[in-house]
Amino acid sequence: MLSNLKAQPADKILALMAKFKEDPRSTKIDLGVGVYKNAQGVTPVMRAVKEAERRLVAEQTSKSYVGLAGDPAYANAMIDLVLSDSVARDNIAAVATPGGTGAVRQAFELVKMANPAARVFVSNPTWPNHVSILKYLGIETIAYRYFDSETRAVDFEGMLADLTEAREGDVVLLHGCCHNPTGANLNLTQWQSVVDLINEKGLIAMIDIAYQGFGDGLEEDAAATRLVASSVKECLIAGSCSKNFGVYRERTGILMAISDDNTDTKLVQGSLNFLNRQNFSFPPDHGARVVTTILTDPELRADWAAELEETRLGMLALRQQLADELQRLSGSDRFGFLAQHRGMFSQIGTTPDMVEKLRADNAIYMVGDSRMNIAGLNADTVPVLAKAIIDAGI
Ligand code: LMR
Repeated sequence: MLSNLKAQPADKILALMAKFKEDPRSTKIDLGVGVYKNAQGVTPVMRAVKEAERRLVAEQTSKSYVGLAGDPAYANAMIDLVLSDSVARDNIAAVATPGGTGAVRQAFELVKMANPAARVFVSNPTWPNHVSILKYLGIETIAYRYFDSETRAVDFEGMLADLTEAREGDVVLLHGCCHNPTGANLNLTQWQSVVDLINEKGLIAMIDIAYQGFGDGLEEDAAATRLVASSVKECLIAGSCSKNFGVYRERTGILMAISDDNTDTKLVQGSLNFLNRQNFSFPPDHGARVVTTILTDPELRADWAAELEETRLGMLALRQQLADELQRLSGSDRFGFLAQHRGMFSQIGTTPDMVEKLRADNAIYMVGDSRMNIAGLNADTVPVLAKAIIDAGI
């Protein structure tokens, strides 16, 4: 049986991670996988996470199972963080999941369970694993125009035109903030137009929000998600704590399903619990408990928010430094978009050949679609990258 297996396509982000590890050049720069690194190249354990873990070790008396949906206190804390009071709590079903990817997977499975005919519209480009999971589940996927590789901003007209092709019941997958991989985002007026289209055509909104706090601030980054969730009939939200709490390996995610007043939330909750049971039974607890401890303790929460804000401002400073350096070297404003983009990533909009050239000549690693992780830079490596970009003729 096992010999019948076929080699599976490698995930391009994870393959790049492995390639970087193997590169012996001491000057190598990793702008690949979406993991935050500080100026010393370290992915730190956040102060509030350390303290919450210390408390857990001291106080936890049992490691017994919690429940298929995870700890209700975690769901409540995350609903508050992402949605605040934009949606009535009675209309929200939620389950803890193994990371944001787990939430995305459970959301797609829920779509398939509720409406096998639904197609999922994804931005072109989107996080590659969205497409991969959809394909694996046999769900028809349609790409809508999103990134204009000339302006490096959102091709909003193209986006709306393509979404107009969606049929009632189709799902529109949107990035709540800090679009991955492009870094280009809609403004709130554009989000409102998307909401209007969703309502007009009877579409289902799905939001992947994995970088809250990395763009314009914790509240600002949640504004679009809150607008959509409070204005459409039904909405799925996949949330992640990997980046904003830095708990990558703890696999701490959440799926929220918002229904209208005519749907029994218990029915939705039961389906989410069932899907967890089929796939892995109980979701991981440690990261969720750490996050709950932080969000429900005013002092820890304030310290976490302050450290996250430092992280965000550090990334913004790197963006500005890179845009300025490229402006100086090129004598043009064509890289100004780097300071406009938000989140961990920017797609510089060049060819895979150029990306490969940067890797071969300069040991600079970015994803083949020219996505770079801004947090992989520091004040010393920004000029190195800028020079390499200009030298390569990008
Ligand atoms: C990324 O986009 O690099 C991250 O979300 C990590 C991953 O799992 O791909």
